[in-house]
Amino acid sequence: APLDLVVRHAHVATASDCFDADIGVHQGRIVQIGASLPAGVREIDARGRVVTPGGVDAHCHLDQPMEAPVRMADDFDSGTRSAACGGTTTVIPFAAQAKGQSLRAAVADYHRRAEGKAHVDYAFHLIVSDPTPEVLQHELPQLIAEGYTSFKVYMTYDDLKLDDGQILDVLSVARDHGALAMVHAENADCIEWLTRRLEAAGRTAPRWHAHARPMLVEREATHRAIALSELVDVPILIVHVSGREAVEQIRWGRAHGLPIFAETCPQYLFLTAEDLGLDDSYQGARCVCSPPPRDRANQAVIWNGLRDGLFTVFSSDHAPFNYEGTEGKQPGGQEQPFRHIPNGIPGLETRMPLLYSEGVLGGRITLEKFVELTATNPAKAYGLHPRKGAIAIGADADLVIWDEGERVIRNADLHHAVDHTPYEGHRLRAWPACTLSRGEVVWDGQFHPRAGQGRFLPCQTPTLWARR
Ligand code: URP
Ligand code: ZN
Ligand code: ZN
Ligand code: ZN
Repeated sequence: APLDLVVRHAHVATASDCFDADIGVHQGRIVQIGASLPAGVREIDARGRVVTPGGVDAHCHLDQPMEAPVRMADDFDSGTRSAACGGTTTVIPFAAQAKGQSLRAAVADYHRRAEGKAHVDYAFHLIVSDPTPEVLQHELPQLIAEGYTSFKVYMTYDDLKLDDGQILDVLSVARDHGALAMVHAENADCIEWLTRRLEAAGRTAPRWHAHARPMLVEREATHRAIALSELVDVPILIVHVSGREAVEQIRWGRAHGLPIFAETCPQYLFLTAEDLGLDDSYQGARCVCSPPPRDRANQAVIWNGLRDGLFTVFSSDHAPFNYEGTEGKQPGGQEQPFRHIPNGIPGLETRMPLLYSEGVLGGRITLEKFVELTATNPAKAYGLHPRKGAIAIGADADLVIWDEGERVIRNADLHHAVDHTPYEGHRLRAWPACTLSRGEVVWDGQFHPRAGQGRFLPCQTPTLWARR
């Protein structure tokens, strides 16, 4: 049978090599890689261009119910549209358990939210907020067996946080069933104490958010998460690591032979606490996220960690809230004390171009490292490799053809449903010329919708570490 598609003369980049080859696709999968492949029904000329695996964004929030009136701006339609246009072909958003809700009900709810809407493939992490005996003994083990092999636990946020004993219980389930626990590491009591002190002093503008969550609260919780992981003897992945002190704790754990994995995000490379405001103006609410962006010295530490292997994955932590209106950063249509500003910033579409531009073309990381951080490692960490995150025989034909050239980020050009980007005006040196999802063009300067063609991906157990 002829090839459905040949991507000709690609400069192929994987997590381990770069080489020139044609890529042959049949029925949505890569079936040949080599020189001078036979003609395909369709041909794409990639001469002179880098071709990477489609991105795997392993940390994003889509259509996650919030406390009224707050609502996320992106659902699975607009979220996966913007992912595709930015070179991401797999998203792993969260199915969040509300307290009192069964995990099973949470999962069913999120499948309904994604059904018929996704333009690219998706899996789910679980958020465990209520680890009842039923959840620990039955629901979680069954869901792991069904392909939900990762879950996030929170050390902060009143509606989500677990105490240390509960975290130990959840980690034990991860250990017994080969799943991966992701940890949001910030000390909730310190944050509450600092927040009250700031409020008592009238310091409630967005910029004070960063003062309520200093590096210390992340450092302490990171160390505690590492200790809990050591006690249970199970790997963990610390999400959205923001700076030096947390990095030092992770290095300490690694130096002691502990299987501690870590994630960072664009906001810790490209934003600082100053983006939350230099004065008490409300504009900075756009950049309120947790942990908050730090300073330039911390950005440099994060770059080092990306380069030297401290970080396993690079994700967006896309958490889409509008600035204008009643449902986002001004809940009810009012400027609010920072305590009530929804946390999170958009970044699905800009994640890959920012790291390619500033990391690869900026001379900070190799192309192979870029592929590892944005696609291969997230696929391995969450049990989707080698189907995702690889350019290899048998892998899904999820590919990005890169265009190296000047471009300025404008929210008007992005495809999410959020009314702003924190990177407005940021200069880029590259952008995806073409994104293929299972052999179909979803982006080539125009978005080609395929709502409902994005498939749910059950996850295998992680392959980042050797199983004992
Ligand atoms: O501020 C953030 N990061 N919001 C998203 C939720 C989370 O904790 O990742
Ligand atoms: Zn190369
Ligand atoms: Zn988090
Ligand atoms: Zn998040």
